[in-house]
Amino acid sequence: MDLTHTPWWKGAVVYQVYPRSFADANGDGVGDLTGLMRQLDHIAKLGADAIWLSPFYRSPMADAGYDISDHCDVDPLFGSLEDADNLIREVHARDMKLLIDFVPNHTSDQHPWFIESRSARCSPKRDWYIWRDQPNDWRAALGAGSAWTWDETTQQYYLHLFLPQQPDLNWRNTEVVAAMHRVLQFWLDRGVDGFRIDVAHCTGKDPTFADHPRCLAGEPLSDFNDQPYSHEVLRGIRKLVESYPGDRVLVGEVNIRATSSVVQYYGAGDELHMSFNFPPLDAPWDPVLFRTCVREVEALLRPAEAWPTWVLSNHDNERHRTRYDGSMRRARASAVLLLTLRGTPFLYQGEELGLENAEVGHDQRVDPGGRDGCRAPLPWEYDAPHGWHGVPPWLPFPPDANELSVERQERQPDSMLQLYRELLRLRRASPALRWGSWQELDSPPEVLAWRREHEGDVRTVCVNFADEPRELVLEGAWRVALSSRPDGAGHRFDGRLAPEQALLLEPLAL
Ligand code: NOJ
Repeated sequence: MDLTHTPWWKGAVVYQVYPRSFADANGDGVGDLTGLMRQLDHIAKLGADAIWLSPFYRSPMADAGYDISDHCDVDPLFGSLEDADNLIREVHARDMKLLIDFVPNHTSDQHPWFIESRSARCSPKRDWYIWRDQPNDWRAALGAGSAWTWDETTQQYYLHLFLPQQPDLNWRNTEVVAAMHRVLQFWLDRGVDGFRIDVAHCTGKDPTFADHPRCLAGEPLSDFNDQPYSHEVLRGIRKLVESYPGDRVLVGEVNIRATSSVVQYYGAGDELHMSFNFPPLDAPWDPVLFRTCVREVEALLRPAEAWPTWVLSNHDNERHRTRYDGSMRRARASAVLLLTLRGTPFLYQGEELGLENAEVGHDQRVDPGGRDGCRAPLPWEYDAPHGWHGVPPWLPFPPDANELSVERQERQPDSMLQLYRELLRLRRASPALRWGSWQELDSPPEVLAWRREHEGDVRTVCVNFADEPRELVLEGAWRVALSSRPDGAGHRFDGRLAPEQALLLEPLAL
């Protein structure tokens, strides 16, 4: 591979910031952009190359900001447009990139476009949303039931694949396309380096509005909607983004649990630059499932234009340590796996601390979709309120907030935080880990082992999923560059893997 033509994002590690829960500067119990700016050095010191920032736009917050009422302004809860400009500058000053969320499928029902659309059947913006006389059986996500809501004033139903407060835009209307392109331009002109595209597979709808058996069976349409028109929408967005200099990037959320469908959204190198691939986000600690995920990605995302991503946690799913039965040992081993496979890893804030989901009592619940547990605030300081000075944060802290706080882990050489830092450091220094080829190695069934290679730079990685020791026979002599267990590095690999241990190995110079 010619490195001079490798875009930055192929060698990058991206860190997701969920702004409500990252850091609070004004003491109102909700994180904000100034709080994020104050803690940017945490992300820089971790060694991340880019930040993906979840929505901070004006919003009534029915879906924590994924219901946008003004795409070109910052919600006062998070700060001001000036803060956003400062943030872009501060991120760049640390040599990092900033990706922001773009939510094309729907707006808030409080967006002026929808208010106008619902005002009358003859409204010039009527066709900006999807109105019908009769509903079909399509189901909305987030437990919202039917995807259609009756509008009393104009006596029609409107479509929403998520909450009724999130009406779906009609991307077949060219004025909608132009208006949403202007939103992208607004942020590109301000200097963002790319977008994470929310439910990128949902903008195209079946034009026949046919019922779907999977909806009848109770599944939301957004879990499998896969229409040719979504690809056209993405091609338009890609063209626009490519008209800007500097390798701006599109990473899509294609929430279809089939890698074979996900890969279609890279198009012929003219749609998404990268897509999330969800199977590893659902997978428990199981070598068979992981082997299948990795092999599938390696078999399907081969072409140069289909660069893989890896993600274990985000703001919509249970944190992976919780998914692995709360095991820190597994969470540590999975960090090695996540950061050494072929592709761009996405970290979710707090996984570098080994956080678990918070216990959220009935009376504390905020999210209609039941996703509060993974959205709990980050503990910065050892002592309560863990750096959240002012009114108590909007959600309770995750378990062990003292021990897992940044302050505490800074001082512990064997902490999860130090493990992530070291992994990112080793990854950054190794072309093999950043861009290299991937080859599976023979191993016992509970062990996954692979080789990465780029122009003479070679690494081997092995992960023992068993909670017993295993042996691995490797050709050549290897030195342990990093172990997921706090048992040190630097010694010669003797073929033994401790229970649930992951190792990063480099050739031993004899
Ligand atoms: C996916 C986002 O990640 C999620 O948080 C949101 O609820 C839905 N899309 C709807 O925007």
